[in-house]
Amino acid sequence: MTTPTPERADFVVVANRLPVDRAENGEWRRSPGGLVTALEPMMRRADGAWVGWPGQADLEVEPFEFEGTHLVPIVLSAEDVELYYEGFSNDTIWPLYHDVIAAPRYSRVWWESYVRVNQRFAEAAAEVAAEGATIWVQDYQLQLVPKMLRELRPDVTIGYFHHIPFPAYGLYSQLPWRRQVLEGLLGADVIGFQRVADAGNFARAVRRQLRYDTKASGISVPMGDGRTRIALAKAFPISIDAESYAELARSPEVQARAREIREGLGNPRKILLGVDRLDYTKGIRHRMKAFGELLTDHKVDASDVTLVQVASPSRERVVAYAQLRDEIELTVGRINGTFDTMGHTAIRYLHHGYPREEMVALFLAADVMLVTALRDGMNLVAKEYVASRIDNRGVLVLSEFAGAADELGSALLINPHDIVGLKDTIMRAIEMPGAEQGRRMRSLRRRVFEHDVEAWSQSFVAALDAARRRDRGPGPREVAPA
Ligand code: F6P
Repeated sequence: MTTPTPERADFVVVANRLPVDRAENGEWRRSPGGLVTALEPMMRRADGAWVGWPGQADLEVEPFEFEGTHLVPIVLSAEDVELYYEGFSNDTIWPLYHDVIAAPRYSRVWWESYVRVNQRFAEAAAEVAAEGATIWVQDYQLQLVPKMLRELRPDVTIGYFHHIPFPAYGLYSQLPWRRQVLEGLLGADVIGFQRVADAGNFARAVRRQLRYDTKASGISVPMGDGRTRIALAKAFPISIDAESYAELARSPEVQARAREIREGLGNPRKILLGVDRLDYTKGIRHRMKAFGELLTDHKVDASDVTLVQVASPSRERVVAYAQLRDEIELTVGRINGTFDTMGHTAIRYLHHGYPREEMVALFLAADVMLVTALRDGMNLVAKEYVASRIDNRGVLVLSEFAGAADELGSALLINPHDIVGLKDTIMRAIEMPGAEQGRRMRSLRRRVFEHDVEAWSQSFVAALDAARRRDRGPGPREVAPA
């Protein structure tokens, strides 16, 4: 769909990826994902633009219009992908911010590339933003962009949302560039985190490293001329477009597909489900260890209970991810080799991504959803499962180390490192009576539907508008929620 190209946009999103994927025939398709859906109405109302990488190395594309949004592609060379994306973003920041589950690697060459690429994103956003615009930067790949933007465009209001955890100071302080990253983030007027604990960790790092004063959610940032400004750092837990999951779950085709999935697995009494990017933070090995031991202990039988594990391919050129894949596939092979029967499999392992319809069918087919992350910013899969269970049935087993645990207290909360506790909880989930499932699921669904992704984006943008009014007075270009 083509609309007139805005010269300058009043609302600009800056994210590592554009909200579209390029198909093999060169056509653009909207990428699945809640962020795109959440921001779409604001994008349309405010002449929105989205600055991001189209997902392939060396792909040079002119800015273009897609479904009412002006897209500004950033070119990343093969070297940028290796150093900035796979290196600093996903082999330094990712493991460090996920509590060093894998060892972070600190490379000066990666850091230099991260600075260069962040500058490129900041310049592109500065160029497309109208006078007094609002710019919303997304996630850990772009932590330096807020400060760079403030230097380039002091007239704009800047938000930053951190989708992953922010670690405790004792870990964060390992980062050789810890001051620069804090200063980069503090370029924003509002810095959003998933959990209250993440915002607290950030404020502590700022106090310890930069010696800035913090009071409640406000951080006093010196402006260099003797004055200070207040940056707001607080929790805005992200969510999903819950209604769209419920709508799919109501569709007769999806319900028929759910029945077909059960039949395809030999109609086991119970289906357990894990759905993750294949990432070492997700606790897939812990989950398989617990399930393997339940089979060994004869607590469950492969003809009776099946674990379906969807592990979508991710960051495959990063060594830690390639190793994880080997380990998981070895474990699945061993467990299945030992416990499969001619008619039933213990673990149905699928190394693919699936469209949303298929995922909702799987959610409907699964009696127990296992979210055993060792550390996770939020874990939207937990919320997707809940939103899909229009029948108020099914049990969510949820790691207390996932951000979602702060909101979804009616799930069965677990510590994935405690294998005995995890096994007991899986058994409790398998045996849970329908009435208790219903009570818990209704309470989970209330939370997920009341705090959906639209509520999330509106509350963040309202905080940004408040910051603008405080510092600059009301502007004609204010991005008011619908
Ligand atoms: O969880 C953080 C995150 O960046 C998500 O926003 C995103 O969906 C996911 O990781 C995938 O990451 P990548 O862009 O590296 O494939």
